[in-house]
This record gives sequence, C-alpha cells and structure tokens, in this order.
Amino acid sequence: MAEHEALPWQPYPELNDEARIARARAFLAEIATRRSCRAFGERPVPREVIEAALRAAGSAPSGANRQPWHFCAIAGAEAKAAIRVAAEEEERHFYANRAPRSWLDAVRPLGTHADKPFLETAPWLIAVFARRLADEEAVPRNYYVTESVGIATGILLATLHAAGIATLVHTPRPMRFLNRVCRRPDSEKALMLIVAGHPAPEAMIPAAGSMKKPLEEISSWL
Ligand SMILES: Cc1cc2nc3c(=O)[nH]c(=O)nc-3n(C[C@H](O)[C@H](O)[C@H](O)COP(=O)(O)O)c2cc1C
Repeated sequence: MAEHEALPWQPYPELNDEARIARARAFLAEIATRRSCRAFGERPVPREVIEAALRAAGSAPSGANRQPWHFCAIAGAEAKAAIRVAAEEEERHFYANRAPRSWLDAVRPLGTHADKPFLETAPWLIAVFARRLADEEAVPRNYYVTESVGIATGILLATLHAAGIATLVHTPRPMRFLNRVCRRPDSEKALMLIVAGHPAPEAMIPAAGSMKKPLEEISSWL
C-alpha cells in the first residue's frame, strides 16, 4: 500500500436528491447567463473580488496537484496601455495576414476586429500563464498543464460571473508580449488574457455567441 498522509473527507452539505437537482439547476440558470463582453466601462471592481476569484481558480484540480498556473492581475494604466498597444499590433497582423480564411469566416459572425479599447477601459486584465516547469529542481516538469490551467480559468470565469462581473477571454496571437509586460519567465506560456469589469452602456453581444448546442448534441449516455 502506498505511504501517504491522509486526512478525513470533509463532508459536503447533506442534501436530498430534490435539493441537489434544484441546486444544479440554479447554478445552470446563473452560469447560462454569462456572455462574453467586448465593451467595458471604467467603473472600478474591488481588488477583493479579483482576489477571491483567483483563490477560487487556485482551488482547481490539477495534474499531480502541481497547480501549474500563474495569474497576473493588472490594474495599472501603464501596463494596460502597453498590453493594448502590443495586442492591437498582433491582431492587426492576424486579421490582415496571418489568419487563414476559414478562421476569419469562423469569427465573422462575432464581429471581432483588431481594435481593443476595452484593454484600457476595463478595470482589470488577468494574464493567465501556464507553468511548464515546477519550482523545485528535483521535479522539473508539470503534468497536464493546459488541461489544468483551462479548468482553473473556467472556475475563475464562473466566480467573476457569480460576483456580477463581465468577462472576456481574449487571445491575441502570439502572446509573448505578456511575458515582457508581466515580467514572467520564458518558461511560462501565456494562454489567455481575461478582461474583467462592468459592461459599457453601449455593450452589445453577437447573436452567434449566444447560440449553444443542445444537450443531445454535446452528450451521449451509456
Ligand atoms: C480560448 C478562447 C479564446 C477566445 N479568444 C477570443 C478573442 O481573442 N477575442 C474575442 O473577442 N473573443 C474570444 N473568445 C470568446 C469567444 O468568442 C466566445 O466565448 C464565444 O463566441 C461564445 O460566446 P460567449 O462567451 O458569449 O458564450 C475566446 C474564447 C475562448 C474560450
């Protein structure tokens, strides 16, 4: 038998099945109202909200519990301006030269383009980094890094949504500039930039983004 320290299971709240179904449906009803926001106002969001969301993200499961993520929370005007300049430059190249036609066709219904003023108006940007290497030299690599960081970021988005904060997952390509602005080592890979704040009064959502596949299409049951 493997030797490891074990702690007693911390019981979840005792519910009956009816209550479990009701809670699952209540969470569904709330999370299903999340929509990506692409026009943010300047109204501030308390740092405590971002801290709680990052703690929630940090509670995520991860391969071998390596927690292979780093979140850089950015509120400073100078850093946000630097990110906007770099992101818009990459996006201009992307839309004009790099994007294959099929990709442009896929994003056309979303109405996205290279201008990203929200990178400066939104009160918070959170750069999400994947850590391919562990801290200790004895265990140099992490496992299931992308999967783990994706799950943690999902929890981050869900927590921000529960707090009434609008978000956008933004992925300007390539995102190397985020290592420079956030002063992160080359061994870390920037995966996503989460924009968080309150929607601007003129914010709209593309109809195409709200269309979700039905359960029958995304699931099979054996
Ligand atoms: C990994 C990932 C990358 C994304 N990158 C961008 C992006 O660079 N720019 C953008 O406007 N939206 C981006 N999105 C948002 C998607 O376009 C959006 O989630 C999708 O259209 C569904 O809309 P919804 O989030 O409102 O449900 C990204 C989403 C994910 C998960």
